[in-house]
Amino acid sequence: MTAPHPPTIRALRHVALRTTALEGSVDFYTGPWGLDLVQRTETTAHLRAAGPEHHVLELHAAERNGLHHIAFAVQDPAEVDAAAEWLRAEGVTLLEEPGRTDRPGGGYAVRFLDPENRVLEISAHVHAVPELPQDRPVPRKVAHSVLNTTDIDAATAWYTRVLGLRVSDWSEHQMVFLRAIGDHHVIAFNQAEWTAPNHVAYEVGSLDAWMRSIGRLKVAGHETAWGPGRHGPGDNAFAYYIDPAGLVPEMTAEVLQIDEETWMPRVWPRTPELSDLFRTAGPPSPRVREHMGGVPDPGWA
Ligand SMILES: [Fe+2]
Repeated sequence: MTAPHPPTIRALRHVALRTTALEGSVDFYTGPWGLDLVQRTETTAHLRAAGPEHHVLELHAAERNGLHHIAFAVQDPAEVDAAAEWLRAEGVTLLEEPGRTDRPGGGYAVRFLDPENRVLEISAHVHAVPELPQDRPVPRKVAHSVLNTTDIDAATAWYTRVLGLRVSDWSEHQMVFLRAIGDHHVIAFNQAEWTAPNHVAYEVGSLDAWMRSIGRLKVAGHETAWGPGRHGPGDNAFAYYIDPAGLVPEMTAEVLQIDEETWMPRVWPRTPELSDLFRTAGPPSPRVREHMGGVPDPGWA
């Protein structure tokens, strides 16, 4: 019997958003964005990428945009149980006991709240799906989600201590990048006036696939809202868009892979040359900043 300990989160599985434009967003994400529909009801849509996850994006019809939940992967149900025990010991509010779920994708999961009332899920043994052919330049996974927080230090402390994520880098004291295993970040926090999802990033397999994705979106009438460019922290290529509800997705590629033995977090000054290594994007416009700021999201109710 080991003492309760933080979970070893292996990956970000999926992000679920509340959207004011379900219909249009399903068309956008299954069309030029390159995802595929897995399951659709009148008020929800589950969308997959080309990789092995059952789904990477859930859309839930709502009267205000916001975050519905974020799901993280652990290895097996025993790790979900251990995570639940740890969360309980840490005083975290569990929304459900760990157990089998009949939500789309199935699996064994526990749901709980973070200190800003976001719903988080840790799951294992979700349904397998066949990986799709890699010959199309479409997203293969959700790479990261950036969240606006009113207290970046409290958020960082909780996500590292309670969830076991690790700090990869800071962008001054404005953003912090947190990793699980491999990718430079799966979650990042942005200091803001209110909580809201800032953006969700989807990864394609190469810079060529990334350019072709930008081209596919352009041909379909969708110009970038910011980018193309390449971030300093994380070294990832970026192209941001505004979806039909006003939420912000990012097409990304070549996310820096972290070697746990040697990595040293750094603080990146927010200068033009470090904010965009390509120097193609320029600063984000007031319009994309406004969409990244979103509307105040009270979280779970
Ligand atoms: Fe991003």
